Amino acid sequence: MAAESDTVRFALSARAARTGPQPISFLMRQAVENPSLISLAAGLVDYESLPVQPSRRGFERVLDDGRGRHTLQYGTTIGDATLRQRLLEHLANLDGIAPAAFDATADDMVIANGSQQLLFLLTEVLVDPGDIVITAAPSYFVYTGTLQTFGAQVRCVDMDEHGMVPAALEAVLERLEAEGELGRVKIVYVCDYFQNPTGLTLAVERRAELLRIVQRYSTGHRILLIEDAAYRELSYGDDPPPSIKSHDKSNACVALLQTFSKPFAPGLKIGYGLLPRDLVEPVVLQKGNHDFGSANLCQQLALAAMESGDYQRHVEALCRRYRAKRDAMLEALERELGDFEPGNTQWTRPGGGLYVYLTLPERFDAGPHGALFDRAIGEGVLYVPGTYCFGPDPDRVAPSNTMRLSFGVCSIEQIREGIARLARAIRAIDTGQ
Ligand SMILES: Cc1ncc(COP(=O)(O)O)c(C=O)c1O
Repeated sequence: MAAESDTVRFALSARAARTGPQPISFLMRQAVENPSLISLAAGLVDYESLPVQPSRRGFERVLDDGRGRHTLQYGTTIGDATLRQRLLEHLANLDGIAPAAFDATADDMVIANGSQQLLFLLTEVLVDPGDIVITAAPSYFVYTGTLQTFGAQVRCVDMDEHGMVPAALEAVLERLEAEGELGRVKIVYVCDYFQNPTGLTLAVERRAELLRIVQRYSTGHRILLIEDAAYRELSYGDDPPPSIKSHDKSNACVALLQTFSKPFAPGLKIGYGLLPRDLVEPVVLQKGNHDFGSANLCQQLALAAMESGDYQRHVEALCRRYRAKRDAMLEALERELGDFEPGNTQWTRPGGGLYVYLTLPERFDAGPHGALFDRAIGEGVLYVPGTYCFGPDPDRVAPSNTMRLSFGVCSIEQIREGIARLARAIRAIDTGQ
């Protein structure tokens, strides 16, 4: 017999009650319920190329007699010192500068369980319910969920093919200032390399400008600019521009976040952030509450891969593989949809990352409850509805005619077939069949 207490609900915290399911759970369910689906929705990385051999070699190295016990012991909350130094040099190298040019040391670098944990921690230390976080429209939807958990208000800023539009950011900040709300603005979040979901990169000339705007509006308190560079190293053409962080000469305003998940292996779940100096301690204190440090084994493996050169070799091979997949998706879109109202049907042509963003004529509803989504599943293909990628900005209506298509996990054949199925669904909806 059930005890009386079994029938009484738990009183969830306000934070738990604010937390909704991530869209990814809904999409995963569709994929599980329809096993023959080609998923152009999953943001997972290419399966075949996951670095099994380099990881085996790395494990052997980090578990040998000299290092084995250290590797299997707890580490520090901020992360392994040698790895942090190595990552500082790595970021400087990507920016083509000396580490000293960041005006930072390895003690400004924090290792976490993926860059997602850093997004969470930075929000945790800065945002109270009702505070404002500014994101691009569209933006990374998992972070939008995090903002919901913290009770943040979201304001969205327009993007064009060169990334977030500085004048649009300025207009939003100006309006908030006029409304007396500037004191509530805590974070401007920018995913500036091969953005999730559009694949677009912030243009070189906008980088210092965005930072200047954030600095100009940092009057009562400093506003943090989060530079989420998760896809930075997945570049299939010319080198992408230097980071926004490289313009933050006194290491005061920008948190640059990167990860081993996309360029190496998400199974390590190791991310890292070069943070403004005075945010390191608050972040590490919170991390102390979460887990008092990320898995040392995974950190040592990441370090071993960097030291042996396996990391860099893997990134290069991975980029070749993704470039072919990106090309296959763009060619398939051209073949299947190139003649479909060309002015009103558009897609991005990313120079890297994992995503292409498709915009259909406005009459289409590509949302999760729209006719196209069901029809696409009927044809055997899954996409991420673009509506998920717009934060709940009270001043805007999220467009429902867009979708994110990922070329990461599927084979080239599946990409071609997936786009053909999608085009069939689009045409069928359009002709009312
Ligand atoms: C834009 C962006 N930022 C951060 C992350 C978090 O990745 P991780 O926590 O595995 O480093 C992801 C993962 O998909 C992402 O797309």
